[in-house]
Amino acid sequence: MDKVKVGLCGLGTVGTGVVRVLENHQARIKHKLGCEVEIVKILVNDVKKPRDVIIDPSWLTNDPDELVANDEIDIIVEVMGGIEDTNKLLERALKNKKQIVTANKDLMALYGQKLLRLAKENQCDILYDASIAGGIPIVRTLDDGLASDHIEKVMGIVNGTTNYIMTKMTDEGRSFDEVLKEAQELGFAEADPTSDVDGLDAARKMALLANLAFKMEIDLTDVAVKGIRDVTQADINFAESLGYTIKLIGIAEMHDHKAQVTVEPTLLPKDHPLALVKNEFNAVFVHGEAVGETMFYGPGAGSMPTATAVVSDLMEVIRNLRLGISGNTMIDPQFKRQLKTDQE
Ligand code: NDP
Ligand code: HSE
Repeated sequence: MDKVKVGLCGLGTVGTGVVRVLENHQARIKHKLGCEVEIVKILVNDVKKPRDVIIDPSWLTNDPDELVANDEIDIIVEVMGGIEDTNKLLERALKNKKQIVTANKDLMALYGQKLLRLAKENQCDILYDASIAGGIPIVRTLDDGLASDHIEKVMGIVNGTTNYIMTKMTDEGRSFDEVLKEAQELGFAEADPTSDVDGLDAARKMALLANLAFKMEIDLTDVAVKGIRDVTQADINFAESLGYTIKLIGIAEMHDHKAQVTVEPTLLPKDHPLALVKNEFNAVFVHGEAVGETMFYGPGAGSMPTATAVVSDLMEVIRNLRLGISGNTMIDPQFKRQLKTDQE
């Protein structure tokens, strides 16, 4: 295998970053993998739209079949977003024996376990580290780095847009609407930013983290969620006057063999490590029975940090392909719903 051929779905904020990382770090990637990685097709909505990155125009298509039914392509990198159509596209790709890398937490929170099972049936990988906490390799950490431990709690800031909004409202007294617009322009917000603002994006990520941490199926309906829409400047000022700051915090923990997963605006003492996480940065605390407390910090959104995670997953898929092994994070079906959540 001298060359691995990739079909890229999406050339927006993240897709553009993926093209740049592959281009800028070509030599490093080739040295590490012993082969070249080449994008041969890119699926977009509008093939005529001007692009911020240099690509061969013949790569662009709006026909998914040119990627998923293309025998030349080994791996599909999905960074276009969407749920139902994207799920169908990835199902077809897996049935055609394509390996998958995705940054799509909306999709993984809803169809992740089904897709992982389909991937297993087709001896394929589906890796999704970029979908949670952007540049922080938290999926790999929970699945590999801390695999020997019993994880009891995962807690943190997992949405960059809301952390950006809360930071700018707190530190600069700026208005919610103005800062949300800025987060959209910077490429942090989702296509529909209500999923950021209302806490759904964070809830999806916490459901995925809880799946990984506790090895049980937890879906979005199991997460108690409240976003930041109702947090006013007066709330922020009042919290400040008492020595606190308000952050959107996700918590997944086990209580008496039950998992509880919540996302909500939370008062933190100003010197708490999570209170010091500013702008689009994310941070995740993981508490393991043996390791104790660990904390992971890094950019949680944006083009290049997310693209770095996507390309790292792409490299892992290629290594697994060459070794003939799977990197999939599977939950054994016997654990499915064995442990109930408090919300049920
Ligand atoms: P953008 O809206 O910037 O880009 C989406 C891209 O996908 C565009 O190139 C668009 O084409 C293409 N596209 C969308 N729908 C279709 C479709 N149905 N058929 C063909 N092409 C399509 O999104 P982002 O790059 O911000 O996000 C992509 C994914 O990554 C999402 O799942 C998001 O949740 C996730 N993500 C985003 C992060 C971020 O910081 N932005 C961080 C982590 C994950 P065209 O250019 O022609 O419009
Ligand atoms: N909209 C998401 C966020 C992108 O702001 O965190 C990264 O997943």
